[in-house]
Amino acid sequence: MQVMGKIVVVTGGANGIGRALCEAFHRAGAAKVIVADVDGAGARAVASSVDGAAFKCDVGQEKDIRHVIEETERQFGPIALFCSNAGIVGGFDPLSENAGGNSDEPWARSWAIHVMAHVYAARCLIPRMKARGEGYFLNTISAAGLLSQVGSPAYSTTKHAAVGFAENLAISHRAHGIRVSILCPQGVDTNMLRSIPKGPQSGDGDLSPEQVAKDALQGIEQETFLILPHPQVLGYMRNKTENYDRWIAGMAKIQAKMREDYGR
Ligand SMILES: NC(=O)c1ccc[n+]([C@@H]2O[C@H](COP(=O)([O-])OP(=O)(O)OC[C@H]3O[C@@H](n4cnc5c(N)ncnc54)[C@H](O)[C@@H]3O)[C@@H](O)[C@H]2O)c1
Repeated sequence: MQVMGKIVVVTGGANGIGRALCEAFHRAGAAKVIVADVDGAGARAVASSVDGAAFKCDVGQEKDIRHVIEETERQFGPIALFCSNAGIVGGFDPLSENAGGNSDEPWARSWAIHVMAHVYAARCLIPRMKARGEGYFLNTISAAGLLSQVGSPAYSTTKHAAVGFAENLAISHRAHGIRVSILCPQGVDTNMLRSIPKGPQSGDGDLSPEQVAKDALQGIEQETFLILPHPQVLGYMRNKTENYDRWIAGMAKIQAKMREDYGR
């Protein structure tokens, strides 16, 4: 799909990868870029730099997503591309004694933001896109949704669930002309990455959000389901499926080294 002349929504668009996506879509000639973020002031600042529009919204709340979609379509026209990009670190603890943690809070928040937000967007937009015979979802997930993020059980689990939902969305609605891409980078130099200690997610180098947005735009133009800004991830996926036990053992070594490093 070409974004030229299209209406595009980006959640988590006030910062990092989301902001870079808004800028890339604007440069590519989108008719209107809608910036939706829980950080209302940040969303307004990005929107004004791309001649777009802003909504303050918590993507974990279905009514907020519905409001963004209904108001965007009422004010500007049909949404061609909806980017569910907002995300949180959610319970990173390299020294954790128990992968289950000790509270539901990081699990519930990560589930709402990384999974249900994508479900709410689909629930509201699918009937509209089906009626139009076209539509596109770009869901920012992570290499953690394909592999795992050591020290972050809630993040890894909910990002895996997001991959599962995106696959099902793509399968269920291909016949309706609806396309889906998942954006799965490793480390990207944003506030989120800077908020956690340096770790294996940076092993192949951190990319700039601008580079990741460029890769996303190219993936959308080519209608590629899996967008991997770090191409090494494909090799890691192959290693994982080729010998799952060897892969778990390798990841456990990384976990042990991390415990040792942070335990000091
Ligand atoms: N930075 C990385 O290394 C990296 C790697 C892989 C995947 N990702 C994913 O990329 C996406 C963007 O992350 P980023 O690195 O740009 O982070 P970031 O912290 O720079 O930006 C995230 C944005 O999401 C917004 N947000 C958070 N919770 C929200 C909510 N409930 N409702 C609406 N907006 C909300 C924040 O206000 C912020 O503007 C996330 O889904 C993240 O998991 C990031």
